[in-house]
Amino acid sequence: MFIVVGVTGGIAAYKTAHLVRLLVLEGHDVHVIPTEDALRFVGLTTWEAISRHPVTTSVHEDVSEVRHVALGRKADLVIVAPATANTLASMTAGLANDLLGTTLLATNAPVVVAPAMHTEMWRHPATVANIETLRSRGVVVVGPADGPLTGGDSGPGRMSEPEQIAASALAVVTSGGDLAGLTVTISTGGTREPIDPVRYLGNRSSGRQGAEVALAAAARGAHVRLVAAHVDEGVLAAASIHPRIEISRAGTAAELGTAVRNASADADVVVMVAAVADYRVAEVADHKLSKEDGQLQTLQLVENDDILAGLVQARRDGQTIVGFGAETATDAAELLDRARRKRRRKGVDLLAVNEVGWGKGFEASENRILVVDARDEVTAEASGTKRDVADALWDSVLAVRGTAKA
Ligand code: CTP
Repeated sequence: MFIVVGVTGGIAAYKTAHLVRLLVLEGHDVHVIPTEDALRFVGLTTWEAISRHPVTTSVHEDVSEVRHVALGRKADLVIVAPATANTLASMTAGLANDLLGTTLLATNAPVVVAPAMHTEMWRHPATVANIETLRSRGVVVVGPADGPLTGGDSGPGRMSEPEQIAASALAVVTSGGDLAGLTVTISTGGTREPIDPVRYLGNRSSGRQGAEVALAAAARGAHVRLVAAHVDEGVLAAASIHPRIEISRAGTAAELGTAVRNASADADVVVMVAAVADYRVAEVADHKLSKEDGQLQTLQLVENDDILAGLVQARRDGQTIVGFGAETATDAAELLDRARRKRRRKGVDLLAVNEVGWGKGFEASENRILVVDARDEVTAEASGTKRDVADALWDSVLAVRGTAKA
């Protein structure tokens, strides 16, 4: 594999020398791109000797080979270790002021970063926001670990160990992972039911949680079919460049139903995260309805098919079907009760619920879910980023599939 390792200016750079060595010993073609600052910690000679390739920090060398684009294009994987707070900020802003910056912009390969900095810097809202943006673009963040830092301090901020970075980074590109071999279909976003050429009935779903469910599955080795209704801008960016995610689009509940049924016929797992409109307008007007004609006070609605119910009816042997419910509840007991009742009503193997309300759940990047299974047991209760929640959901899926087989 052609691997680019970006090294930035932190003391943990000395550990990256070991990372490069590990990758070379595993037979990879490793090209190191240090920043100028990184060279204050570990010199050029070391990088050249360990990687067995010439190393430069400058975009002005090998100009005829267009080096800044060439390395990015050839890369199967880019690892930035250590990634300082400054580097994370530059990556977020898309700065291209050195060879590493240009390479990161020129590559389509998966990018893995291993942050290293003091705890205060790691927890600063600017760094937190940068990490979130990078994750939303598909960048995989390994660590940082909790432990001793430079100068006798201790806390989260220590770069992960080279072995862990190598394993996590290689897992991103190889097809290993605990979902390898599974085909999964996921729906996301909110359907829009047209009223007339300019109006629709819609909902506040951003599609972010479903996109994270898809990215988490792909990162764990699954082949993913993501059926997206309306989603917020940028939500599909990372999924759209992932080699194991196929995206199809749908507008209305009826279109989503058709797309999901097609994508589910041979799927091992189906997760319906999409917020499907329960009703559509009985007759869509072919002209803009007008207040003047009194045509807007009352809309005649007809119920949409329950896509999930249809999937459960058509379920093939060994297929796991997961529903997602957004609920408003006054307390945890009520949420659990609603989850259990909805799971029974829908007949799914697992139902995940998250509490929504004004300012809760929808556009936020953090989420909280509760997952119940067919025995009414809670199989997961997770909170954190939408990716953390997605991973907890996949853990539950694996658990019920394991139990079903046993
Ligand atoms: N769902 C579906 N087809 C529909 C409506 C919902 O497949 N027509 C799926 C959603 O994708 C989700 C699950 O059913 O996985 C629960 O959605 P929700 O809107 O909470 O369910 P409803 O049955 O509409 O329940 P409620 O009356 O609480 O809205």
